[in-house]
Amino acid sequence: MNICCIGAGYVGGPTMAVIAQKSPQTRVTVVDMNQARIDAWNSGNLPIYEPGLAEVVAESRGRNLFFSTDVAGEINAADIIFVAVNTPTKTYGVGAGSAADLRFIESVARTIAEVATSGKIIVEKSTIPVKTAETIQKILGANTRGLEFQVLSNPEFLAEGTAIVDLHNPDRVLIGGQKTPAGQKAVQTLADVYADWVPRDRIITTNLWSSELSKLVANAFLAQRISSINSISALCEATDADVDEVARAIGYDSRIGPKFLKASVGFGGSCFQKDILNLVYLCQSYGLPEVAAYWQSVVGINDWQKKRFAAQIVKALFNTVSGKRIAIWGFAFKKDTNDTRETAAISICRDLLEERAEVVVYDPKVPAEQIRTDVLGKGVENDRLIIVDSAEAAAVGAHAIAVVTEWDQFKAIDFEAVFADMPKPAFIFDGRNLLDLEQLRKIGFNATGIGK
Ligand code: NAD
Ligand code: UGA
Repeated sequence: MNICCIGAGYVGGPTMAVIAQKSPQTRVTVVDMNQARIDAWNSGNLPIYEPGLAEVVAESRGRNLFFSTDVAGEINAADIIFVAVNTPTKTYGVGAGSAADLRFIESVARTIAEVATSGKIIVEKSTIPVKTAETIQKILGANTRGLEFQVLSNPEFLAEGTAIVDLHNPDRVLIGGQKTPAGQKAVQTLADVYADWVPRDRIITTNLWSSELSKLVANAFLAQRISSINSISALCEATDADVDEVARAIGYDSRIGPKFLKASVGFGGSCFQKDILNLVYLCQSYGLPEVAAYWQSVVGINDWQKKRFAAQIVKALFNTVSGKRIAIWGFAFKKDTNDTRETAAISICRDLLEERAEVVVYDPKVPAEQIRTDVLGKGVENDRLIIVDSAEAAAVGAHAIAVVTEWDQFKAIDFEAVFADMPKPAFIFDGRNLLDLEQLRKIGFNATGIGK
């Protein structure tokens, strides 16, 4: 069996590395048009940081796992082609700001149609709007000189920072296919690949459209829980309730469950916002404005929560941060990743810079240049945005520390020493409810959390 995956990103790379690891008899090649990315996958310095990934890649690379820019050649050699290209929010034309931009998906479908000399199974791994398989099928059908293609939907549910654990032990693998004999045969072929390590009862099969839609709905439900608890965090602050205690109390109800109830500065990451906006656009397109408004509010609360955090800092610092130094601890959208896409830190840094603060950022995994580009835009300079290489250095001379990413190392910091280096009163705003506020208050900090 030959597998090719188009797109060597956060999904394509780790997913294929695990297939190659668990299925040594399968030849797996990940292709990308981005030469630098492929070079990095072939080097000792992988293009993404993910715990356990380097070990999994090292086990199979050069044996049955390959990274290449030969897109056409590998398409031709493959029996199964995974499509794991990016599907960002459209920034132009109709649907700008909410619809999914499907130009990379379409371009892949056209490339396959152009270069394939035998029939293949094509697997949608990217997150796409429901009915995208129809588009792919039409493009292939119109161009492939009678070759047989089966399009399957197999959305990915891994979370960054735990990708390898999630791939090794998924809650479920979802495969959607056509209800024809050929469609069902393709579904079984793909199910057999996963069955090398995933128990059969966790491999769920559905029709194509249910599978495509389930991915958007899963992300919408997860994000909705965060916006729900974040909305309650504001009420907790107004009433002296504690959001962590409320989350614990409701999470004990087995119908609610304890996961994804951690109040925060707001969710980030490349997908939650993009996928909900995609869902909103779909609802609008299908004439369901009430449903669209319901899901839109999940993004609305998240934007509000990010703004609220920055505004609270300004308010607590006597309504001005102009000329004051604010330490930002953590920039990635969550711990254990170097990914900064849609991180709440961008909005918080921008708001504080707008208030003329000096913003000093430390993140253990995100390169300084990435932080600058994310906050200011490519090539834009601002002396008031400073990036340093330790949390302690960020805090020296700072009027306040804002914990934006929940990196474990922040829990082990010598806060007495940090306190000594800060002008008084010294503030800590724990945007992740990571630290022991009582302990910090004993040291002398004005310490506040989210929903506390
Ligand atoms: P990414 O941007 O990290 O990687 C996509 C890669 O595809 C890029 O390297 C790009 O160069 C390549 N590419 C685009 N068009 C191409 C073409 N025509 N030929 C060859 N290569 C091409 O994106 P990602 O984070 O891996 O996400 C990919 C998809 O998976 C998205 O639809 C996303 O919504 C979904 N998803 C992402 C995650 C996640 O944790 N990041 C989880 C589940 C699902
Ligand atoms: C999320 C989903 O969890 C994955 O199942 C999905 O495959 C993926 O999106 C995707 O489609 O891209 P990811 O964004 O990598 O994964 O990470 P999460 O752990 O879901 O965290 C997302 C954001 O929500 C982070 O900023 C995180 O800090 C925040 N979060 C999460 C909270 O604020 N509170 C919580 O209780 C949980």
